[in-house]
Amino acid sequence: MLDGTFVLRPLAEADAADWLELVTNPQVYGPTSWAVTELEVLRAASARHAAFGRRWAVVRAADGAFVGTCGAARVEAAGVEVAGEAEVAYELHPADWGRGLATAAVRAYVEECATAGIPRLVAHTWVGNEPSRRVLERCGFTPEELLPAFRSCRGELRDFVRWGRRPDR
Ligand SMILES: CC(C)(COP(=O)(O)OP(=O)(O)OC[C@H]1O[C@@H](n2cnc3c(N)ncnc32)[C@H](O)[C@@H]1OP(=O)(O)O)[C@@H](O)C(=O)NCCC(=O)NCCS
Repeated sequence: MLDGTFVLRPLAEADAADWLELVTNPQVYGPTSWAVTELEVLRAASARHAAFGRRWAVVRAADGAFVGTCGAARVEAAGVEVAGEAEVAYELHPADWGRGLATAAVRAYVEECATAGIPRLVAHTWVGNEPSRRVLERCGFTPEELLPAFRSCRGELRDFVRWGRRPDR
């Protein structure tokens, strides 16, 4: 990924503290519906993702520093993706924005889902999240529907866009 400067590895339960630090950064949660503030919540989520195996940590190759995550948005307790669709989610440390990292990670996820035979990928973005829109467009997603007042972002209901993509496209 990006000439080997950053790599993807499976998200692990031990990433919970780094993940929490990331998603409690206002620059990161601001354009999203992230509202988690408790380590235990993310530890449980990390463990479910680790068992399911379709969400990655993005790490710096040189020292293994945690930069963010990309992959399945949610999994049910049994490890099944919600509603039979793979929803992609991602967030990265602001220091590493703007160098194509999210695009590379989402492309890898699209390939993974194609290999796994998942027929459809979806994503949901707040209408004002321009960087995320660019990432999805470059990865072959198309906007499908405007979803008024779809998700609560720190107490404020915001309009989102649902994006869709077939992995084989
Ligand atoms: C969305 C996010 C993961 C993108 O990460 P990234 O590694 O910077 O993404 P990339 O470098 O692959 O692409 C970002 C694109 O957005 C563009 N961009 C960056 N800031 C922008 C801004 N303020 N306004 C408009 N476009 C912007 C970049 O120019 C780039 O597009 P381009 O290459 O076509 O010019 C990162 O911004 C982030 O973590 N945001 C907070 C969490 C979030 O929004 N997650 C997604 C929820 S749906």
